Amino acid sequence: MANLDLVQALDGVMKGRFATRFYIDRPVSHGTIRDILDAARYAPSGANIQPWRVYVLAGAVKAEICRDIVATHAAEAAHHASEYTYYAPSLPDLYQSRKQAFGRIFYGSLGIAQDDLRGRAAQTAKNYDFFGAPVGLIFTLDRRLEKGSWLDLGMFLQNVMLAAKVRGLDTCPQETLAKYHRVLRRHLPIAAEDVVVCGMALGVCDAAAVATRGVMERASVEAFASFHGFEAPRAHDQGE
Ligand SMILES: Cc1cc2nc3c(=O)[nH]c(=O)nc-3n(C[C@H](O)[C@H](O)[C@H](O)COP(=O)(O)O)c2cc1C
Repeated sequence: MANLDLVQALDGVMKGRFATRFYIDRPVSHGTIRDILDAARYAPSGANIQPWRVYVLAGAVKAEICRDIVATHAAEAAHHASEYTYYAPSLPDLYQSRKQAFGRIFYGSLGIAQDDLRGRAAQTAKNYDFFGAPVGLIFTLDRRLEKGSWLDLGMFLQNVMLAAKVRGLDTCPQETLAKYHRVLRRHLPIAAEDVVVCGMALGVCDAAAVATRGVMERASVEAFASFHGFEAPRAHDQGE
């Protein structure tokens, strides 16, 4: 029997999370982050190998790392690259059109015109100080692991974001930080066998984020799911 309060609460958290790119200047305690990770570690993983590793950055250490990345990005962005490819070089039409829609909606929500290359670059650069969030997380994975372990890490990432959300904190996952893995390695004891997969900003959402809150639409269930072996749905089956 479904616990309707819990259903509503959990659905609300999943639907309410969004990539937050504006934060207020309020610290998040070590204890809170530890609690979030303590919940997130219950993510499932194939054969329970729990492949995730995370570096949690705050205060002077985060500031120093961000300074280095921001400066590197300004001076020599072309000389840095992620150790893995996030997007297929040639996206199938459906995904390419969604990616283009993302660009339109995202920059539109920030008041940046599509052809404003400087504005877009300035927005990208904000990633490198975690959009001003008080906490930055860096997620790594052993490069000897296979795609299955990347699934596992994805589940862990989502757990972190939801555990943060229920604590009144917002997040933005950031693959673009993987580009500066060499800079990150100067500051953090990232093992040579580990790949920097992504970063994540975490903190209290600033009111400025309201314009971008929940602007990314999702395809309907019918667009990606097909049902087999069910009786024809009746109206009152909804939300059963
Ligand atoms: C693994 C991953 C990496 C991402 N990397 C970035 C990033 O580097 N910078 C950024 O601004 N947003 C990044 N995003 C956020 C996505 O753009 C965002 O999740 C997507 O547009 C859907 O919007 P929503 O999360 O606000 O619903 C990333 C999301 C994921 C899941």
